[in-house]
Amino acid sequence: MTELKNDRYIRALLNKEVDKTPVWMMRQAGRYLPEYKATRAQAGDFMSLCRNADLACEVTLQPLRRFDLDAAILFSDILTIPDAMGLGLYFSEGEGPRFERPISCKKDVDNLIMPDPEGELQYVMNAVRTIRRDLKGEVPLIGFSGSPWTLATYMVEGSGSKFFTKIKKMAFAEPQTLHLLLDKLADSVIAYLNAQIAAGAQSVMVFDTWGGILSPRDYKDFSLQYMHKIVDGLTRHYDGQKIPVTLFTKNGGQWIEQIADTGCDAIGLDWTIDIKEAKARVGSRVALQGNMDPSMLYASPERIRQEVATILEGFGTGNGHVFNLGHGIHLDVPPENAKVFVDAVHELSAPYHR
Ligand code: CP3
Repeated sequence: MTELKNDRYIRALLNKEVDKTPVWMMRQAGRYLPEYKATRAQAGDFMSLCRNADLACEVTLQPLRRFDLDAAILFSDILTIPDAMGLGLYFSEGEGPRFERPISCKKDVDNLIMPDPEGELQYVMNAVRTIRRDLKGEVPLIGFSGSPWTLATYMVEGSGSKFFTKIKKMAFAEPQTLHLLLDKLADSVIAYLNAQIAAGAQSVMVFDTWGGILSPRDYKDFSLQYMHKIVDGLTRHYDGQKIPVTLFTKNGGQWIEQIADTGCDAIGLDWTIDIKEAKARVGSRVALQGNMDPSMLYASPERIRQEVATILEGFGTGNGHVFNLGHGIHLDVPPENAKVFVDAVHELSAPYHR
């Protein structure tokens, strides 16, 4: 068992007292940092960076050297699982992720291999082990995965999408095929996240980036049901420590009671819900993470501080808040503005924890 020097993030997720509200940023390691671009150029392409444990560790630690962050997040991607299932992930410059062999029918789903976390995905576990070693207990390490629904959208569309016509056609015309796929993905995610926990992840987060494009009924059927299965299958205690689980459905503000019902420890909020209202609805059943609009980091230092103050006031006193952006940091944000944001959270939150 390793003692953490700074355990604010874990304590807040578990609804325990903290001295200041912990803060980290989704996509905190990335192209807005010149040092990230330099390391990525050294690796070649993005997946080579993910596959190199030393370089993945280096980029994980880069934002922590600049900012007073309360958590590190594994440098990897949600699409490692579909890649390991045999779909052939590649990134075309400026166009985002793509698959060589997308899923279009039941036979494709039947042919998917169930990836071995210490086999095809061992490079991810090696990155987790290397990062944990080099973090030296400074802050906790967050492991992560995509939700089955979000992974399925990329696997069926074959790339990012605007209207999601292929996955919705499968959902409504061939629901059994999609459920088969989602069930396989849920099993793979459980094995993958449990392996990350065994390798050293001290908390895990599930990114459901596209759950919010569904109707309430379909969200429950195609997304939430499978995240619930994941929460039930995860290792919740490891090495004498509780492992908090955060579920983030982008645009999922209308479903937070149902998300809390899965038994997760925390809910990630984007910026389309008022945090005061969210807290009133779920009380202290779960912690809340969020919820500043990432575009606020384009504003002046005064405006950024004002927004941080407003969100802190909205949450009010009490435990269970992790400050974050409501989605990933944009790639053209000046790093100085990210520093203003992180420092403002610590400075302005202290009075709420006396
Ligand atoms: O710092 C961190 O937050 C950890 C690393 C991380 C990445 N991707 C690195 C990455 C995490 C947690 C993710 C999650 C992820 N990946 C999600 C869910 C969260 C979200 O943002 O909604 C999704 C949908 C993906 C899929 C994905 N990977 C896309 C759409 C892209 C292209 C993004 C773009 O702007 O071009 C990626 C590539 C990717 N993943 C990059 C990074 C830093 C950019 C790669 C590069 O060119 O260097």
